[in-house]
Amino acid sequence: MLSPKVETALNQQIKMEGSSSNFYLSMAVWAEQNGYAGVSEFLYKHSDEERFHMLKLIKYMNERDGNVVIPSFEQPKSDFSRVTELFEELYSHETAVTRSIGELVGVCLDEKDFTTHNFLQWYVSEQLEEEALAKTIMDKIKLMGDDQSAWYHFDRDIANLTVTSAADSAQTN
Ligand code: FEO
Repeated sequence: MLSPKVETALNQQIKMEGSSSNFYLSMAVWAEQNGYAGVSEFLYKHSDEERFHMLKLIKYMNERDGNVVIPSFEQPKSDFSRVTELFEELYSHETAVTRSIGELVGVCLDEKDFTTHNFLQWYVSEQLEEEALAKTIMDKIKLMGDDQSAWYHFDRDIANLTVTSAADSAQTN
């Protein structure tokens, strides 16, 4: 059984992951409409990953006989001035998700729910990778500046980048 506090915190995280999925979907649509096919593909995949994060929490709560609440979502922002703004927002959003996971882990410790605490370690690692990936992308964007040729290559290469592939390449480098 999940304690009411853990149950509430897990449901809040479900909402956060689902909102992330919608936000990145909205970014993907903007990128596709503005000619950034690679960035768009990356964001569609990222959106799918966030939906998977949400589903994993839902499945876990069901396994523990918790009361899952499927939330309503606010309409995500859909207009961006440029790709740089889009990734600034993504990075900032990921740091907020990391904080949220940290708070959720804290609730589990307070409630002495070591099973959920253990389950959440996957999210702790995932956030580490996602935040690092977002930071790497922001560093690249700063380096590129207004170099159109660099942006062309960036858009081509980012299509093949996922959190998992970035983590794998970090381990082999
Ligand atoms: Fe599932 Fe990137 O937060």
